[in-house]
Amino acid sequence: MKIGIASDHGGYKLKESIIRRFTNITFDDVGTFTEESCDYPDYISKVCYKIQNGELEYGIVICGTGIGASIVANKIQGIRAALCCNEFMAEMARRHNSANVLALGARVLGEELAFRIVDRWLSSSFEGGRHQLRIDKIRELETAQRKPR
Ligand code: RB5
Repeated sequence: MKIGIASDHGGYKLKESIIRRFTNITFDDVGTFTEESCDYPDYISKVCYKIQNGELEYGIVICGTGIGASIVANKIQGIRAALCCNEFMAEMARRHNSANVLALGARVLGEELAFRIVDRWLSSSFEGGRHQLRIDKIRELETAQRKPR
């Protein structure tokens, strides 16, 4: 399985730890590659565009709180990013929201909790059914955004 991963400087260390921890996954790491201050939209958008164009199916985006990362990711059409603070949220993000991007806050979560969240998100699956109807409505909202008013 290949998963995109991106962070700003606030999420850099956690990004590196996740890559080291999940040896069964091939990561497409689009940066940042140092702890030098940078702007999270630059890196988070990179991984989301790869999902949008079909190069990748899933991504993990990390900043200090996870808030900026999730805001950016959800601006990109086709991305359903979920900022998760525990395993339950991670599981529901897949089962009900079909979240294709997991957002994490490196300054909010301990490393072990972050690993458990990633693990739960990866091992959960979308339930479909009534939840698919809701995903379809999200898509309709995205499409409506593109139409001139
Ligand atoms: C960077 O200092 C910090 O603002 C960023 O990592 C993130 O928390 C933004 O939402």
